[in-house]
Amino acid sequence: MPSVGLAVIGAGYWGPNLIRTALATPAMQLEWLCDLEIDRARAVLGSATTVRATDSYDAILTDPAVTAVAIATPAATHFDLVRAALEAGKHVLVEKPLTPSVAEGEKLAALARRSGLVLMCDLTYCYTPAVQRIRELIRGGQIGDVQFVDSVRINLGLVQPDVDVLWDLAPHDLSILDFVLPEEIHPVAVAAHVGDPIGAGRACLAYLSVWLSNGALAHVHVNWLSPTKIRTTVFGGSRRTIVWDDTNPAGRLAVHDRGVDRQQAGEVPQDERRRALISYRTGDTLVPALPEREALMSVMTEFSAAISQGRAPLTDASAGLRVLALLEAASRSADSDGARIALAEVGT
Ligand SMILES: NC(=O)c1ccc[n+]([C@@H]2O[C@H](COP(=O)([O-])OP(=O)(O)OC[C@H]3O[C@@H](n4cnc5c(N)ncnc54)[C@H](O)[C@@H]3O)[C@@H](O)[C@H]2O)c1
Repeated sequence: MPSVGLAVIGAGYWGPNLIRTALATPAMQLEWLCDLEIDRARAVLGSATTVRATDSYDAILTDPAVTAVAIATPAATHFDLVRAALEAGKHVLVEKPLTPSVAEGEKLAALARRSGLVLMCDLTYCYTPAVQRIRELIRGGQIGDVQFVDSVRINLGLVQPDVDVLWDLAPHDLSILDFVLPEEIHPVAVAAHVGDPIGAGRACLAYLSVWLSNGALAHVHVNWLSPTKIRTTVFGGSRRTIVWDDTNPAGRLAVHDRGVDRQQAGEVPQDERRRALISYRTGDTLVPALPEREALMSVMTEFSAAISQGRAPLTDASAGLRVLALLEAASRSADSDGARIALAEVGT
């Protein structure tokens, strides 16, 4: 029996994916699709459906059959829509970014906590089999100490009307970083350099450095202007290095037993030091087998399980807030010519 009566809000680019996966989730009963442009909602649903289309959010919030909403509208609308849903007693799944600011995100997290409702942020990549395996490998100590992370997400992307490339694409890389790092390692500072070479009025490419509490450095490059699509992240460790190429379905992940070792100076005679201190390791490369599973199906399953079990979801409001803290600091850095910005603890 479906336990969650769901309404999806937003029938633009991403909303139809939520519709499709909600319809395929046995624990969910999709009741409504709401969009200010009702014809768009009708077109997404087609004629052979029992799901109702509406342009009235109030109709959804007052319907007792609706226990949860999934929101896929532009970021600037998230705060008002999420707050209204929580105040009406509905559980919420909201697209990244949680809100346009940490302050607003914290208000929503507190409201959800007080109301005993699930507030989940759709950080989709955390639910991909590749990222889940990377988390197991890193947290299980397989790569040793994390030394660097290098993430490239570049493509000919849609120049968004409301957000810059940092807020559009970097939530993916930053949520992945947050998800896979061991719990004791966290970002301590950020610097961002951005460019708008086509005069779009907002950053179309960005280079983001994130310093981590263990001394490691992470780097994220996001770009809407690249004619070729590259989605590669390297997680460098003291024992092994993971290379994730998301555009290569036959070999998305490779774990290389290759790297650089450094001997302690005391172990090497003085006259041999310059030559002997650095040595290169060449070992095998392992290509882990990954299950074929659509990440958004896992998002829906996790949302309905968190609701029925009365627990926090894997990517709860706190995860959304940690991403927001990084984005906000990155924007401040970009506004001050790439200055290094220390991160304050967000109220998670
Ligand atoms: N998880 C992912 O991988 C992923 C991918 C793409 C987009 N997104 C996120 O999804 C959200 C939506 O992005 P999009 O690209 O689909 O945007 P879009 O502009 O294509 O669609 C947004 C839709 O929301 C409707 N809308 C706006 N305000 C509304 C309101 N108050 N009530 C009802 N409907 C309203 C618009 O009419 C439009 O149809 C953003 O937060 C974006 O970051 C997530």
